[in-house]
Amino acid sequence: MGIGAYSEAVEAAAYVRGRTRLRPRIAVVLGSGLGGFGYSLEEMKHLRFSEIPHFPVSTVYGHGGQMAFGKVNGTEVAVMQGRVHSYEGFKPQHVAFPMRMLKLFGVEKLILTNAAGGIREGLQHGDLMLINDHINLSGRNPLVGPNDERFGPRFIDMTDAYSPRLRAMAQEIAKSQGFALKEGVYMSVLGPSFETPAEIRAFRTLGADVVGMSTVLESISARHLGMEVMGISCVTNLAAGLQDTPLSHEEVLVTGARVEEKLQGLLKAIIARLGAEVGTEAVTE
Ligand code: HPA
Repeated sequence: MGIGAYSEAVEAAAYVRGRTRLRPRIAVVLGSGLGGFGYSLEEMKHLRFSEIPHFPVSTVYGHGGQMAFGKVNGTEVAVMQGRVHSYEGFKPQHVAFPMRMLKLFGVEKLILTNAAGGIREGLQHGDLMLINDHINLSGRNPLVGPNDERFGPRFIDMTDAYSPRLRAMAQEIAKSQGFALKEGVYMSVLGPSFETPAEIRAFRTLGADVVGMSTVLESISARHLGMEVMGISCVTNLAAGLQDTPLSHEEVLVTGARVEEKLQGLLKAIIARLGAEVGTEAVTE
């Protein structure tokens, strides 16, 4: 595994290009327990992360560890079944590496999904929440260090990090599918311990609606790369102190599996809609 240098991202993207004829402009990252979408594509092909040069590989149970390439209603898509997290010991540049590879591979639109604990009153197990903003409490940032202008500028605006345009599109689609897509602020923490009830009370005061251990470094990196970003949290549990049972990774996976169908339906409709915008770059060999 490298340090996320430009040359490494170029090498990784070239390798992936050699392994699939597809040239997707849209990518999806699937969170804990949400990997099923990567098995539901047309003309599907999988590529283990461990095969891709310099690509970071997760150690967490419930994370598939592969890329899926395929189509949704004819629209090409790249899907990461699993991701790496800072709490595994990965540096922020490692967490950002797949985004950089995807950008060099041709991806322009990124949908990040995750499992999260619900903080705001009214959020329930199995709810999907569109992320409209985040609070980065992880203490990490993938843009720390010398800036490589080939990826993006030194300072980036994060005002509309989660595209208002894509959010409106997702809301419209959810409505047409007959469910209420909640919307709110994702708070990222380092983990891997779940939070204490006192921390959750503090986070609520700070303006967090859900809490999780991923996504934020990826969205910062994707914005640096100039991608259009959407984020969807699956509320797999209520945050510490808000439910009667102890928090566990098993609960996260079980709830994730339960809401997968709804998430997949939403993702498919969003991708089909985006496909009409991006077109495809045909590969003829
Ligand atoms: N806290 C942090 N991360 C999480 C949680 C949580 O309650 N649920 C799923 N990921």
